[in-house]
Amino acid sequence: MYKKIKSAVAGSINADMILSMKRVPEVGENLTGTSYGYANGGKGANQATALSRLGAQTRMIGKVADDENGHRLIENLKNNGVDVSGVSTEGTQTGLAVIILDGEGRNRIVVYEGANAEINSTEAAENISDELDLLLVQFETNENAVVECVNTAVKKNIVTVIDCGPTKDFSLEKMQGAAIITPNESETKALTGIFPESETEILDASKILLERSKAKYAVIKLGERGCSVWDGETLRMMPAYKSKVVDTTAAGDCFTAAMALEFVRSGDIYAACEMGNRAGSIAVSRMGADASMPTADEIKNIV
Ligand code: ATP
Ligand code: RIB
Repeated sequence: MYKKIKSAVAGSINADMILSMKRVPEVGENLTGTSYGYANGGKGANQATALSRLGAQTRMIGKVADDENGHRLIENLKNNGVDVSGVSTEGTQTGLAVIILDGEGRNRIVVYEGANAEINSTEAAENISDELDLLLVQFETNENAVVECVNTAVKKNIVTVIDCGPTKDFSLEKMQGAAIITPNESETKALTGIFPESETEILDASKILLERSKAKYAVIKLGERGCSVWDGETLRMMPAYKSKVVDTTAAGDCFTAAMALEFVRSGDIYAACEMGNRAGSIAVSRMGADASMPTADEIKNIV
């Protein structure tokens, strides 16, 4: 039996609006969609929900506004067993993501960060207590908050995982010494100048990621190709599990949370990425963001 891992996620909380269509419109074209709906999202909140469903004790550190979306999103986190004592409701407007989903389950996302960008770095870092085993951060808040949280956690020897989504060239040099840095393909391009297509490109990009961040491992999420792991000496490619894609939204969040949790439990980066690939394959088979996060039993049953 594993001990209960104590985790925290410092990151974004968004209301997601998902509009589905067979294909995305051209510039100037007015296209009829096939359906729309609302979901609970934000990279931080998705990762917190995933950690909690996978059995970790999880605290969310972030900011919403005192508005309808903010209240609903906080309630949803609570319903998923996440401790929301680190979430401030003093933002000007709760974050919003408009997600355009095509017939093949591929998304295009525009985010208004709102309250997420207003997170106070000192307040956020104060929520990173000594007894934590794991901290996850993403780039959907402001750079100062990410830097302060990473540096606080690293100083306290808390396993720290930097998920580099969404695509922003944040200064990795200011957040040194995390355990794992994990961008997807486009984030890798923004941070290294290299799109990770071939194995040589993946290796070159991974080297730059470690040089810039001084992290221990670079794990690049490669969509339907799975992921790569670079530890400074060996590059290993880890293929994805077969899945019927419905909506890829939050697959990266799901991968990061499952991978990070397994890394804390086992200390084995390959076992961790295997878990990430399993979890990601479930997330792409389901509609929505936090709704597609699996439980530990669902991950185990994948073949
Ligand atoms: P998103 O931004 O859509 O949340 P991402 O771009 O950050 O996701 P991806 O690399 O697309 O991240 O996906 C994360 C992980 O999910 C992959 O590393 C892989 O394990 C899994 N995955 C993604 N797409 C597929 C797929 N088509 N089939 C199986 N697994 C997939
Ligand atoms: O990673 C998926 C998330 O990105 C969505 O839930 C949306 O809120 C955007 O932030």
